[in-house]
Amino acid sequence: MKILVIGNGGRESAIANTIRRFHEDATIYVAPGNGGTDEKYINVPIKVEALEELANFAQKESIDLTVVGPEVPLVMGIVDVFQERGLKIFGPNKECAQFEGSKHFTKQFLMRNNIPTARYASFTRDAVEECVAESKNFSLPVVVKADGLAAGKGVLICETYEAAEEGIRDIFSGKFGEAGEMIVLEEFLTGIEASLLCFVDGDTIVPMETARDYKRALDGDEGLNTGGMGGFSPNPIITSEVKKNIETQILEPIIKGFKKENLQFKGVLFIGLMIEGSEPKVLEFNVRFGDPETQSVLPRLQTDLVQIMNACIEGNLNTTPITWDERQSVTLVLASQGYPESSHKGDIITGLDTLEEETILCHAGTKRINNTVQTDGGRVLAITRLADSLEVARKEVYEEVKKIQFDGMQFRTDIAK
Ligand code: AMP
Ligand code: GLY
Repeated sequence: MKILVIGNGGRESAIANTIRRFHEDATIYVAPGNGGTDEKYINVPIKVEALEELANFAQKESIDLTVVGPEVPLVMGIVDVFQERGLKIFGPNKECAQFEGSKHFTKQFLMRNNIPTARYASFTRDAVEECVAESKNFSLPVVVKADGLAAGKGVLICETYEAAEEGIRDIFSGKFGEAGEMIVLEEFLTGIEASLLCFVDGDTIVPMETARDYKRALDGDEGLNTGGMGGFSPNPIITSEVKKNIETQILEPIIKGFKKENLQFKGVLFIGLMIEGSEPKVLEFNVRFGDPETQSVLPRLQTDLVQIMNACIEGNLNTTPITWDERQSVTLVLASQGYPESSHKGDIITGLDTLEEETILCHAGTKRINNTVQTDGGRVLAITRLADSLEVARKEVYEEVKKIQFDGMQFRTDIAK
């Protein structure tokens, strides 16, 4: 079997590792991949945005299944490009990828289908003054969001109306290009966040084990927003009562909405949730696996991931039992100097070969040069451990990290604390 994984982050490393766990003899290509996938699999030097080139490669190599990691190619319509050529690919089509490509699109869907979410109002660029005026009808802090993909930088939590106005004018000034042609204003929600990744086959939605992500750069949730500095699974905020509410108030209406609106969503739907008491509300949808949630969740998967992805594509999810390891996982991200404002490349990483066998290592921003592994991006590595308790998994992760060194290495010390 030949598999192509598209992307170069820790998430894609985790996806490839999980496929390998169930398919020892599969040939796994990663485009463009990183220093870790270069060693374990076959890197293919094609960018994630080069949709036609990727499809050419899949066709030439007779790839059996392509898995898309990041959102950008999904929003660009990679699934439609592959499907037109009869190539099997896991992910939502361009129409459904709008759930991540446009916050306005998602908010409208949520409202139409009575799914709990923050109150909102949307404005196009020709309505700057109306947008500024409306922002004052929200209590503080008010949330100002660029509608489109902004690599995690398009969400502003504004403590004053002046800051909101500045943010609105800034986004509409063109700073985010097309992503800033529309703004979504939102009521600020309080509570505890959780990430719920779900497999979807068009008719059935099956939640994976829950996770928690740490988005801020520094301990105590201080510092700038990042892609995610660590996480764990399961997330204890999702009690059985919350789970039931998610099932009836969110998952069932989503599937009904997909059917009613003729949306053929197949792939992973990542639901960002805010939980207050036992009441869940939707913060956002992503249309892919999360990073670093995937590094925490997939090591717990006990069913063949390829079988599940095929079931999503073929519409057999309801007859595909999925089982999970009862153990808990903790994932720690190691970032390079300057992250998230910048990243430092070329620092030599040592100690990776001294890690214990039980430690799951996922490369992200790394490359191999003359037998050395070097930093090559913001988030460099993620290490995960599974244990019977969160405390033990956490202790083991922080023991293992002591063995890894590179100049400027930074990580949070309070993941899963
Ligand atoms: P989003 O990309 O929309 O999920 O926003 C990124 C992050 O901003 C979320 O993970 C939350 O931490 C925060 N956030 C977004 N929207 C809200 C909201 N309405 N209330 C509170 N926090 C929010
Ligand atoms: N960890 C959040 C995300 O993948 O969007």
